[in-house]
Amino acid sequence: MRVPFLDLRRPHEEVGAETEDALRGVLAGGSYILGHEVEAFEGEWARFCGARGAAGVGNGTDALALALVASGAVRPGRGDEVVTTPLTAGYTALAILNAGATPVFADINPDTCSLDPESLDKAVTPRTRAVVPVHLYGRLADMEGIGDAAARRGLVVIEDAAQSHGASAGGRRAGSHGHAAAFSFYPTKNLGAYGDGGAITSDDLSFIERVKGLRQGGHEAALRAGLPGGLNSRLDEMQAAALRVKLRRLEEWNSRRRRLADAYRRELSRCEGLVLPAEHEQGSHVYHLFVAQHPERERLREHLSARGIETLIHYPYLLHRQPLFRRDAQAALPVAESVVDKIFSLPLYPQLREEELRAVIGAILDFDDRS
Ligand SMILES: Cc1ncc(COP(=O)(O)O)c(C=O)c1O
Repeated sequence: MRVPFLDLRRPHEEVGAETEDALRGVLAGGSYILGHEVEAFEGEWARFCGARGAAGVGNGTDALALALVASGAVRPGRGDEVVTTPLTAGYTALAILNAGATPVFADINPDTCSLDPESLDKAVTPRTRAVVPVHLYGRLADMEGIGDAAARRGLVVIEDAAQSHGASAGGRRAGSHGHAAAFSFYPTKNLGAYGDGGAITSDDLSFIERVKGLRQGGHEAALRAGLPGGLNSRLDEMQAAALRVKLRRLEEWNSRRRRLADAYRRELSRCEGLVLPAEHEQGSHVYHLFVAQHPERERLREHLSARGIETLIHYPYLLHRQPLFRRDAQAALPVAESVVDKIFSLPLYPQLREEELRAVIGAILDFDDRS
């Protein structure tokens, strides 16, 4: 049986008719950039995240760069540093670079694979202005520990919430913990568009107004306001209309993800050497990805591939080792180094079928029996 890692036609089948109606309305309406749909989506997304305001932008990378600039934390040319994790999509660090700062990498917590507050504290220098914790794989980073360290050091906290739509900790959702948060609606995300899209949330409404100026930085109003660091990066009306339809399904889709994760955990807990992602006791994990660890990852992935089961690695390399981000002053990151060769992602999305789930579980149990 072939089990694809993700088939994006399946979520579309659930919302196709409604989405086509919504898109027809946009086409006939004659307003395609920054109109009613974007404004309505911004209100709905802010409410969903538990933040006072939101601004739609072109993608998650721009969302992060614009949030860093609009917060005032980063000013190009000043030699600012921003601390983040080495285990994330390269876009996280690219956004820091695009904002005009240098990404500095701190180590991760071995259980959550997200930024470790103690390591963050050690990475801070007099040039550090901000920290970007990434809520990796669908689980919030330790926002209490990171918030405490940031407050002690006077750092702005910008959440990279690209992978954690609807995840929560301490009763608060991703997007309501830092000074601001950046989201991606890349099609594979828990709330995915039909192309690129992104948003920024914050409780600070004057910050949201600055973002709205910066997202069309060449616009007359933005030029007169004298805002540096602008981009031309807007969420468009078609994507906003489609996102509004899918947003109505997001909580149910996240619950389905959690049920599938529970099944993997229940059935695979006895496998020797296999480390499964821990449930989030004080919060809600939304399993954007189900990332396990195995000391013989490549042999296990080959075994699964031979049975038609597609797995991926998020991520196969650490960012502090990439030429674009490498620095002589970078401290060693032993925890990140110890997990990067073991992690791999199993198929998990709301439309994964029961027989596909059983096929994945059966193939891993078979590998375990033979080892
Ligand atoms: C953690 C993380 N940050 C940032 C991004 C960048 O988002 P986008 O692809 O919308 O620019 C992504 C998605 O690829 C991501 O997973």
